[in-house]
Amino acid sequence: MKILGIESSCDETAAAILENGKVIANIISSQLIHKTFGGVVPELASRAHQKLISLVVKQALEEAKVTKEEIDAIAVTNRPGLIGALLVGVNFAKALSFGLEIPIVGVHHIEGHIHAIFIENPELKPPFLTLVVSGGHTELIHFKDFGNYELFGQTVDDAAGEAFDKVAKMLGIEFPGGPNVDKKAKNGNAKAYRFPRPMLDSGNFNFSFSGMKTAVRVFLQDLSETEIKENLNDIAASFQEAVADILVLKSIKAAKEFKLDKIVVTGGVAANSRLRSLMIERASEKGIEALFPRPVFCTDNAAMIAFCGWKLLQKGIKSDLKMTAHPSIQLAQ
Ligand code: KG4
Ligand code: ZN
Repeated sequence: MKILGIESSCDETAAAILENGKVIANIISSQLIHKTFGGVVPELASRAHQKLISLVVKQALEEAKVTKEEIDAIAVTNRPGLIGALLVGVNFAKALSFGLEIPIVGVHHIEGHIHAIFIENPELKPPFLTLVVSGGHTELIHFKDFGNYELFGQTVDDAAGEAFDKVAKMLGIEFPGGPNVDKKAKNGNAKAYRFPRPMLDSGNFNFSFSGMKTAVRVFLQDLSETEIKENLNDIAASFQEAVADILVLKSIKAAKEFKLDKIVVTGGVAANSRLRSLMIERASEKGIEALFPRPVFCTDNAAMIAFCGWKLLQKGIKSDLKMTAHPSIQLAQ
């Protein structure tokens, strides 16, 4: 079975083709237009998706060496995300499904992120704990089974990726902030400064990243521009260490409390090199296995959407042409 996946919920226009769960094409076009503004501008994202979508799908078909007539079904992200951006993907997918007379299924973006782990670990069996860390989400979810999820905790303010992006901006680090902070941190000393670990002892599994961002801002107020430049790598490394530390501490605490021996980390921030090494190291000390998708499957991509759609279709779940997009809808309660 060949599935075409389409993803357009934020600033990546992506299309992928999976054949029986194997990725045979994975095209991701990251919109560069937002660089000028230091953040994603929703209306510009929608317009860029419109320009790119047919090109990206065509490229995916070429890479997979299949014609559109050979596609058996379409999976498309329809929730949550920027509404205008989502609608571009959803409407394109609906038109294609109508024209080719093939099934279509709407996929929840976060459910897609979690399914990225199965692409290269098809034998992985639930239950497990999953930490979803992206630009808009920071959630600890109990993945009991396919389609059966429980929310253990989430951020009460900014998402982890959002904190990376905002701190990057304060430091004058180029957009996209997260990956560039990661790069700078590689040449820095993570112990140079101690930033707070908010909600460490909150007694629940929630996170807060807004305070961490403010702590960096206050810290920077006492430094001259030259001092910031000279210590940029150390500041980036110390901030990244604080984020990774709190994410790892809370994830391991939740895994132990709910007796789960696997932690699956997904979403854009799961591409962070320090989060990956620290989670693997600390989890293994507790006899817990930490799993991450390859970085290309952590950040937004359509392979994860196609994989999740494939699973949904196997369970008999599909959408129809009445499907629409939803800007904010939680995966788990
Ligand atoms: O999942 P994603 O690609 O899009 C959303 O669904 O939001 O996540 C994007 C977020 C951005 O905030 C980006 O800065 C962050 O993931 N990110 C990283 C890294 N790569 C992407 N943050 C830290 N380190 C990275 N290597
Ligand atoms: Zn995402």
